Amino acid sequence: MTTLLSVDGLDLSYTRAGRTTRAVRDVSFEVAAGEVLAVVGESGSGKSSLAKCIVGLAQPDRGAIELAGAPLGRRRRSKEERRRVQMVFQDPRSALDPRMTVFSLIDEGWRTHRSIAPTDRRAAAGALLESVGLDPLLLDRRPSQISGGQAQRVSIARALAVEPELLVCDEAVSALDVSVQTQVLALLAEIRTRLKLTMVFITHDLGVVRRIADRVAVMYLGEIVEIGPVDEVFAAPEQEYTRTLLSAALDLATDWN
Ligand SMILES: Nc1ncnc2c1ncn2[C@@H]1O[C@H](COP(=O)(O)OP(=O)(O)OP(=O)(O)O)[C@@H](O)[C@H]1O
Ligand SMILES: [Mg+2]
Repeated sequence: MTTLLSVDGLDLSYTRAGRTTRAVRDVSFEVAAGEVLAVVGESGSGKSSLAKCIVGLAQPDRGAIELAGAPLGRRRRSKEERRRVQMVFQDPRSALDPRMTVFSLIDEGWRTHRSIAPTDRRAAAGALLESVGLDPLLLDRRPSQISGGQAQRVSIARALAVEPELLVCDEAVSALDVSVQTQVLALLAEIRTRLKLTMVFITHDLGVVRRIADRVAVMYLGEIVEIGPVDEVFAAPEQEYTRTLLSAALDLATDWN
């Protein structure tokens, strides 16, 4: 098993109005090539902050991030480094520029990375849309002219266009209604197998963890308090906090059923 992502001793603090929040505290973990690691934890536990450090949208105060054995820039990342790690956000509508068409959104990465000849891009974008279950006819629409589920598929297509090695999904299915959520999860699972993609999958939904992840990391107040195979952690959580999280999820499930 080769390690694709390695995070070592990561710290990230925010200072606002004289107050400092330690959002990520001494976080270390590895993700193997082709593996899906879920990250769970209550609101404010630092999941998105960790995701932002991994994709280079936030600069950690300390620590190292390596991809396939090579360090990723802590301050500014090169174009190539940015290409290798892509992110899918919770709300596709705020992540997609409303003025751009679906084609130009997908084409943006190709323009930056010059990976596909200009004359081939329209056909390639159509094929990519088909691979995420969308009709190529949507290429000329804008984000406001497609549904939320379609927009999330476009976000996924856009991330995949530049052939990343690591996909970081931050609550990528949380805003979708249940039936669309199931379809998008199935799509991600299929993509993962087809492209041998490695994923860090942030979610507050433990049912989603079961469906998509191999291992799960539990965050609490900026720290990873527990990490291991999903079955093991769910069957026999070692930490009190993980037990609380699991029983809260169970209560919710019984309340609603
Ligand atoms: N830009 C920011 N400036 C100041 N504080 C921030 C900023 N972003 C996050 N925080 C704080 O850092 C901590 C971790 O936030 P983060 O968004 O990483 O949590 P999260 O686990 O993703 O939560 P959620 O499940 O609600 O998305 C919180 O205390 C939050 O208030
Ligand atoms: Mg978050």
